[in-house]
Amino acid sequence: MTNVIANTVNFVKKTLHGAEAGHDWFHTERVWKLANQIARTEDCNQTVVQLAALLHDIADPKFHNGDENLALQISRDFLESEAVNDTITEQVLFIIKHLSFKNRGDAPAELPLELKIVQDADRLDAIGAIGIARTFNFGGYKNNLMYDPDIPPKLNMDKEAYKKSNGTTINHFYEKLLLLKDLMHTQKARSMAEERHAFMQTFLHQFYKEWSVAEAGQPADN
Ligand code: ADP
Ligand code: NI
Repeated sequence: MTNVIANTVNFVKKTLHGAEAGHDWFHTERVWKLANQIARTEDCNQTVVQLAALLHDIADPKFHNGDENLALQISRDFLESEAVNDTITEQVLFIIKHLSFKNRGDAPAELPLELKIVQDADRLDAIGAIGIARTFNFGGYKNNLMYDPDIPPKLNMDKEAYKKSNGTTINHFYEKLLLLKDLMHTQKARSMAEERHAFMQTFLHQFYKEWSVAEAGQPADN
């Protein structure tokens, strides 16, 4: 299996060459390492965790005209080419299919432990300083506004509304990032999420403080 993991690393690096900086090889590498850290604290199949973490963003529908099957197809073909056995392949594909935040409404009630671990790792990389950086990078990539005091966050969007949302980057904190801490499945991820969550709150506090200083500095209308 060591070889399969090394081959998967090479395959993902090559495939994600030139990807948006929040969903590139470095994101995958952080998620893989976080997933390994969490996996060491749980009684799980570490091969499944590693392969799913490595392949989870191989073809994000956001960057492929909404195609939700492409990642599964690419992953299946790759795992087959590596002669990974059917049981592991099906477990890995199941995780890739159900990992996404926007798909959480469609997920089965009882999730396999390996999915929980990779999801926790992906969610840890969505919060904290890295989460903030990724979110502003994605907002810039989409040419979204950073912030507009007149556009309130939309809470409880369904999957279609979430995908279409072109709200502000600051609103994404309320629509997703600040919700993640309480959605962590494992003890290890829950404790790692605390510091990252608090850092985002500090960031938002400072952001509004500086924004309102700028507003207070406006010349009077007349
Ligand atoms: P998932 O990978 O669970 O499907 P998303 O793809 O929606 O979740 O989000 C992955 C990351 O992409 C987010 O954590 C965030 O950094 C960035 N992102 C997604 N949607 C937005 C958005 N509307 N504004 C800013 N960043 C976003
Ligand atoms: Ni991801």
